[in-house]
Amino acid sequence: MAVRTTGYGGVSPYWYLIPGALVLLKGKHTMAVLPILTHPDTVLRRKAEQVTTIDAEIQRLIDDMIETMYAAPGIGLAATQVGIPLQVFVVDVTSGKDPHALMTFINPQVLRLEGRVREDEGCLSVPGVYGVTPRAQKARIRGLNRAGEAVEVEGEGLLARAFQHETDHLHGFLFFDRMGPVGRDLIKRKYKRAQRQHQE
Ligand code: NI
Repeated sequence: MAVRTTGYGGVSPYWYLIPGALVLLKGKHTMAVLPILTHPDTVLRRKAEQVTTIDAEIQRLIDDMIETMYAAPGIGLAATQVGIPLQVFVVDVTSGKDPHALMTFINPQVLRLEGRVREDEGCLSVPGVYGVTPRAQKARIRGLNRAGEAVEVEGEGLLARAFQHETDHLHGFLFFDRMGPVGRDLIKRKYKRAQRQHQE
């Protein structure tokens, strides 16, 4: 998920000094910033499959997704967005400011949604475009963390929005699918315009 940012947006300026760098060395691991698929890539519309074994490959995918999310910068990223149709997403609504805010969910399920709010929302796979999207104000989700432990978390506000946005990705939905027809058309028009400007 993307949020409107000004300046550094709370993300380390380090990333801005190396816009061309795709690989970072961190400790013993080589972590990679992965390319993010953009709409209308059909992979984004695929339903992700359950992870059956949390092996070294999944751990590496999670590390790379975290790097990719922070580099973007974004506050959430689903595996389908980097072309891996598996039920994994990472989220940090503080953009790295709070080291405890980073969460990984494997095979997430939405248990309960409560309340209704309309707020601005954006997506790293629909770059440069934001729009008011209705979402539940609270969302309780259950899944596995990267250690394979069952976790249940209730999010409120932006965290609830991110939970819904990222679990939607794993079912092949994008944020504008949640809008009414008028809002959705506006987003699509804005996106086409943004893409044309990007190409010029
Ligand atoms: Ni997204």
